Amino acid sequence: MDLDQLNDIAVKMVTPGKGILAADESSGTIKKRFDSIGVDSTQDNRRDYREMLFRTETAMRDHISGVILFDETIRQNAADGTPLVKLIEDAGSIPGIKVDMGAKDLAGAEGEKVTEGLDGLRDRLADYYALGARFAKWRAVIDIAGSEVPSGYCISVNAHALARYAALCQEANIVPIVEPEVLMDGDHDIERCYEVTEFTLKSLYDELFAQDVALEGTILKPNMVIAGKKSGAQASVEQVAEMTVRCFRATVPAAVPGIVFLSGGQSDEEATAHLNAMNEAYGDVMPWGLSFSYGRALQAAPLKAWGGKVENVAAAQAAFAHRARMNGLAQLGQWHKGLEAA
Ligand code: 13P
Repeated sequence: MDLDQLNDIAVKMVTPGKGILAADESSGTIKKRFDSIGVDSTQDNRRDYREMLFRTETAMRDHISGVILFDETIRQNAADGTPLVKLIEDAGSIPGIKVDMGAKDLAGAEGEKVTEGLDGLRDRLADYYALGARFAKWRAVIDIAGSEVPSGYCISVNAHALARYAALCQEANIVPIVEPEVLMDGDHDIERCYEVTEFTLKSLYDELFAQDVALEGTILKPNMVIAGKKSGAQASVEQVAEMTVRCFRATVPAAVPGIVFLSGGQSDEEATAHLNAMNEAYGDVMPWGLSFSYGRALQAAPLKAWGGKVENVAAAQAAFAHRARMNGLAQLGQWHKGLEAA
């Protein structure tokens, strides 16, 4: 393990004004996204769509520090034969790879999940490094439902798996993004989200310590502290920002170079406004870089504008460049609503 190299990559992933594009939708998820615009999920269509994003020069060069890829994409070439990984590198961005095999039912805990994918991971990481990946992602899913879910058991096994994954990544000189996602699907209030997120992060850092993971060479990808989508009362932007930063300051060690959020089903503008509020109000008191690693909140607009048609590529790239710029400004705490129309 070369900790200097790992730290260097992790720091670059949270370059001021930049964040990460999560383009690592699994086959099932990308099919769902394509279904929503009436496009067949063929290998060529997936390639064309992702190539279009990676060739959006201003977005990639100025606002996207890294791209998370799916196994198919890291091996794919653009229509002209250039490897997609090379397009990303040429734009000055870092290729990354999703390595988990998805969240599966957890035995003995009805309705709860554990993320699988540790078997054979050492060999897969070596393969991905050779293909150009310098960071990886593993997503654990924590649901909130009533007072009994999540169980301590579910949080503990997911934290353990995340730490095993992280240790293997570092051995392969790949920066692990550790992603314990507390879902925003329920009807819980923001206090309950705070409580579960705090417990989850404490368990995660406990396991990372126990398994000797060097925090300087990791990135955290968490949810924001936010009320569930089905909760009647949504918190204000200021409250989400205050509670999220308070939760991280209580749990995330200062050695961690960066925290990059998932968007988790927030609207594009909400995801941007929340990130902006945190950096604007608390930029001075946070020891880590705080940025984005959005999937839907970066891609919903370009996906819709594209609609699978060649004649829409320029409009789709403009939509992607706009969201990338808005989130880049939010990373600096310099976004405001008026810029959305500009
Ligand atoms: P969303 O931003 O769409 O939640 O996706 C980010 C991600 O990579 C989840 O693992």
